[in-house]
Amino acid sequence: MDYALIGCGRVAPNHIKAAKENGFRIVAVCDVDFSHIDALFEKAGFSEEEKQGIARYADYREMLKKEPLTLVSVALPSGLHAEAAKCVISHGVNVIIEKPIAMSLADADEIIRLGEEMGVAVSACHQNRFNLAVQAMRAAVEAGRFGKLSNAAVTVRWSRGEDYYSHDDWRGKWASDGGTLMNQCIHGIDLLRWMCGDEIESVYGITARQYHPYIEAEDVGTAVLRFKNGVLATVEGTVNVNYGDMEEHLTLLGEAGAVKLGGTCANEVLSWHFSDDPEDRQESVKEKTVNVYGNGHTALFADVADAIRTGRPPYVDARAGRRALETVLAIYLSSKTGAPVTLPLADVSSADFAGLFGEPIR
Ligand SMILES: NC(=O)c1ccc[n+]([C@@H]2O[C@H](COP(=O)([O-])OP(=O)(O)OC[C@H]3O[C@@H](n4cnc5c(N)ncnc54)[C@H](O)[C@@H]3O)[C@@H](O)[C@H]2O)c1
Repeated sequence: MDYALIGCGRVAPNHIKAAKENGFRIVAVCDVDFSHIDALFEKAGFSEEEKQGIARYADYREMLKKEPLTLVSVALPSGLHAEAAKCVISHGVNVIIEKPIAMSLADADEIIRLGEEMGVAVSACHQNRFNLAVQAMRAAVEAGRFGKLSNAAVTVRWSRGEDYYSHDDWRGKWASDGGTLMNQCIHGIDLLRWMCGDEIESVYGITARQYHPYIEAEDVGTAVLRFKNGVLATVEGTVNVNYGDMEEHLTLLGEAGAVKLGGTCANEVLSWHFSDDPEDRQESVKEKTVNVYGNGHTALFADVADAIRTGRPPYVDARAGRRALETVLAIYLSSKTGAPVTLPLADVSSADFAGLFGEPIR
């Protein structure tokens, strides 16, 4: 699998690790700042010979013209995902797009359309779907063990301070990042929607900017969701924990099952009860992680490689990426209008919410 990475910042080591662990040939990397490439290669532990074998580009268009590639992953600032992904797909190359796949539904739709037209695999990088605890919950959902679902909840309680937001100019801005729901919480929102049956009827959201006056978007958001199948769900996402990353919980309750996942990124089973087998305990499923990005990138990359080889859609496809994006945008829209929002949404963009909390104070 001839592979290249676009964007060599914070999350890039997870992409390189995943590529290495899957035996991909890392042909090229792209970043406007070559010092980021140097730092990435150091972190990856590449030998001088390995470094020499990887071409460096500042412009991904040039890279796509020159290098015959099978798969590219896009780990650029969020506001640049759509343009880069469309460019990759237009070259007939398969793509993994970091979350959110785009900042607007129009761009997400264009990515889906173009991917289908070009016949390439397009995957949204919601790697937490591959967490062992999440996979256990999903298997129980697919086996029908919960019975009729009642309600669900996701909470993402993490911490990001001024140093995080001031380090990179794109962070916390409506057009290039959004707030904590779009950046940190979108993985949990993806899991919640996936577990509850995907089809949302309505969303009521309230967001606020409490402790980060220097960013444009929210640092806390809450929402109530009603799914078409009658399931009710709540979302709480915040970066306002005063000491560090506290937890990411996902709870799912059905008439015959009750499961709660936790840890810092839904990487542990905290509680597991099914009426069909009271002896079935899964609380020992606890995956160690280095940070809140978890371990899922390697499995997601493996899945995409298999999808390319076999011609099937990726496990986490572009439509899944659109659903997570749509849910966040629905919360933003409801927070702006003060009223519940009915889904599906056609054409909403994160940039539409510019000015929601007034100008940032620096
Ligand atoms: N899946 C996850 O768990 C996870 C974790 C962290 C970040 N992310 C996502 O990954 C993306 C990147 O996040 P990050 O924290 O690594 O950001 P970052 O700012 O650390 O890295 C982005 C990199 O892109 C480079 N860049 C900027 N513009 C460019 C351009 N036009 N062409 C080439 N390179 C360019 C920057 O120099 C930088 O090295 C974001 O969308 C973020 O939401 C996902």
